[in-house]
Amino acid sequence: MILDGFKVAKKIRKKLIKDVLQLKKNNIFPKLAIIQVGNNTSSSIYIKNKRLVCQEVGIKLEEYNFDDSVNTKQLKKLITRLNQDNEVHGILVQHPLPKNLNEIEIFNMINPQKDVDGFTFDNIGKLYSARNCFVPCTPKGIIRLLKEYQIPLVGKHVVIIGRSMIVGKPLALLFLQENATVTILHSKSKDKEKIIKSADILVSAVGKPRFISEEMVSKDTIVIDVGINYDNGKIFGDVEFESVFKKVSYITPVPKGVGPMTIAMLLENVVEACKENNK
Ligand code: GUN
Repeated sequence: MILDGFKVAKKIRKKLIKDVLQLKKNNIFPKLAIIQVGNNTSSSIYIKNKRLVCQEVGIKLEEYNFDDSVNTKQLKKLITRLNQDNEVHGILVQHPLPKNLNEIEIFNMINPQKDVDGFTFDNIGKLYSARNCFVPCTPKGIIRLLKEYQIPLVGKHVVIIGRSMIVGKPLALLFLQENATVTILHSKSKDKEKIIKSADILVSAVGKPRFISEEMVSKDTIVIDVGINYDNGKIFGDVEFESVFKKVSYITPVPKGVGPMTIAMLLENVVEACKENNK
């Protein structure tokens, strides 16, 4: 069965449209600021998608584009101004930043209450401690999608391939909160094949097309494909969809799986930040 992120995300956006209308009746206008450095093609596509859904839901968007030569001080000046601007509720610095910039330092300039990506130490620490916080959008979207399909998570063995701070690590914490058993695999892990076969839920966040083939997965596994790989203008996930689809119980397609859920969660975080700021 397909885990239809496109459909679920649409339902979430419908609810957000109502929330935003309600806020607007009270003269509150949710606004997100996005900062992009350089012209990474994938980042530009993500931002274009974010722009479209912000329009649909009625969230105002301010976009800032810098070329690669921007320095930390200039970014800090902008982020400080956005932190102080009461009309800006969410601030997002598009990852990846050019190598000469210290991404962690820059993420941490964002006021945690406007950190709709959940990348500041404050929000990471709260997530680690299972407190209420802004949760990174892709992991949050994956859990929400599984819950929408009422897939039980308690005691399940979840195997996550990839240990990034955007997907792998926060997702592991969220699955632990759901009482799942979590294994994170990475490039240096041993016995990968055996561990992947043992997964009840397999999450691939590797960024390599055709990384997961039909022989690698067990029958009835639930497969979550976080990969977004571009080839000749087409998008592919990490998973060989056609063959794996026939073997497993559930699978997310690419596109229209995890991607739309990530953006829906971003909008949800912005609306949440806006409501909290106007309490
Ligand atoms: N690049 C890829 N995914 C993300 C994300 O969730 N947030 C940010 N800021 N950058 C990204």
